[in-house]
Amino acid sequence: MTNETRREFLKKTALLLGAGATGTALNTAGCAPSTAPLLRAQVTDSVLRFDTAIPELALSGDGVALVSDYLEYPILLIRRTDGTFSAISAECTHLGCIVKKQKLVLRCPCHGSAYDFEGTVLNGPTEVPLHQFRAKQTGTIVEIRL
Ligand code: FES
Repeated sequence: MTNETRREFLKKTALLLGAGATGTALNTAGCAPSTAPLLRAQVTDSVLRFDTAIPELALSGDGVALVSDYLEYPILLIRRTDGTFSAISAECTHLGCIVKKQKLVLRCPCHGSAYDFEGTVLNGPTEVPLHQFRAKQTGTIVEIRL
C-alpha cells in the first residue's frame, strides 16, 4: 500500500468509526482488536491537546488511540505508573501497519512485532522503536507538539 493510499485509508477509517465517540475500538480491516478506545483530539497550531480526565485513562497501563485530521497515524496515549503519559505513534516501524495496544504490550497485527508502552522493541521483525512524542502535562491536560 503506498503512503498516499494508506493515508486515505486511515482518514476514511477514522471517519467511518465516527472518531470522537468514546469507547469506540480502533479495528481496521484485518487487524486484531485493540484495547485502546479511539478518540478524537483537538489540534491547534500543530499542538495536540487532550484532557486525560476520562475513565479510559484512569489506571496505570490504560491507553487511548488519539486521531485527528492532522495525523496520518493515531497516537497512543498510555498512562504510566507515575501518572505521566507516554505518547507513541501507532505506526509500526517495520512496514507501517497500525500497532494495537494489548494489556501489556503494543503488538503489530501484520507480522508480529511487539513494543513496550514506551515504544521499545520487544519482538521483531522490526528493530526500530516506535516514534515517541514529548507529552507535556499540565494538570489533566496533555499537550503534544506534532
Ligand atoms: S508492519 Fe508491523 S511487524 Fe510488519
